Amino acid sequence: MKSEDLILCKDRIGRPFEVRECSPPDFSCLMDMYRVFLPRPASQGLPPPEPETCLKWATSLVETAINLLAWQGKRVIGHAALIKDLAHLSGEFVIFVHQDYRNLGIGTELTRITLKKAEDLDFKSVWLTVSITNVIASRLYRRVGFEYCDMDECERTMIIKL
Ligand SMILES: CC(C)(COP(=O)(O)OP(=O)(O)OC[C@H]1O[C@@H](n2cnc3c(N)ncnc32)[C@H](O)[C@@H]1OP(=O)(O)O)[C@@H](O)C(=O)NCCC(=O)NCCS
Repeated sequence: MKSEDLILCKDRIGRPFEVRECSPPDFSCLMDMYRVFLPRPASQGLPPPEPETCLKWATSLVETAINLLAWQGKRVIGHAALIKDLAHLSGEFVIFVHQDYRNLGIGTELTRITLKKAEDLDFKSVWLTVSITNVIASRLYRRVGFEYCDMDECERTMIIKL
């Protein structure tokens, strides 16, 4: 998938949405999603509830990570990011779907597309941390092939080998 490519998808009730890499002009639409995102934070302090901190966090992700956006029309409805490690052999995964579009399969599709992108870039693995209370995210990650590899009292680390 090149940055200009888009992938056409359908959600669980048949509505179309598109997934493509985030480019600089998309940033304001991404922030439109985070401005109204609920709950804030949703998980592990993210997205940051304070607007300035949220802007800095999203800017840093867009500058340093691989970012995929799910769109319905001109609206960003989901964001997945892969934060590359220094050797670019592995990356940390985070994902956020707008509250009005959850449980429609969009998070699962966005995760699968991000993993395919990581594979195409020759990543050897993708990892993430998830709060032990975030049952929905944990189920999604397991469904696409992540496995638990570490845990403490608050969160679990999961990894998928590519
Ligand atoms: C986690 C998140 C990205 C999932 O996105 P999504 O688009 O809703 O995900 P999907 O619709 O693909 O899958 C959600 C799954 O959880 C299930 N689910 C929904 N509500 C549930 C509940 N209360 N209990 C158990 N399972 C539930 C859905 O049925 C679905 O499973 P299925 O595909 O087997 O039916 C989204 O909920 C989100 O943005 N949450 C807030 C941020 C977050 O927690 N991010 C992850 C940590 S960084």
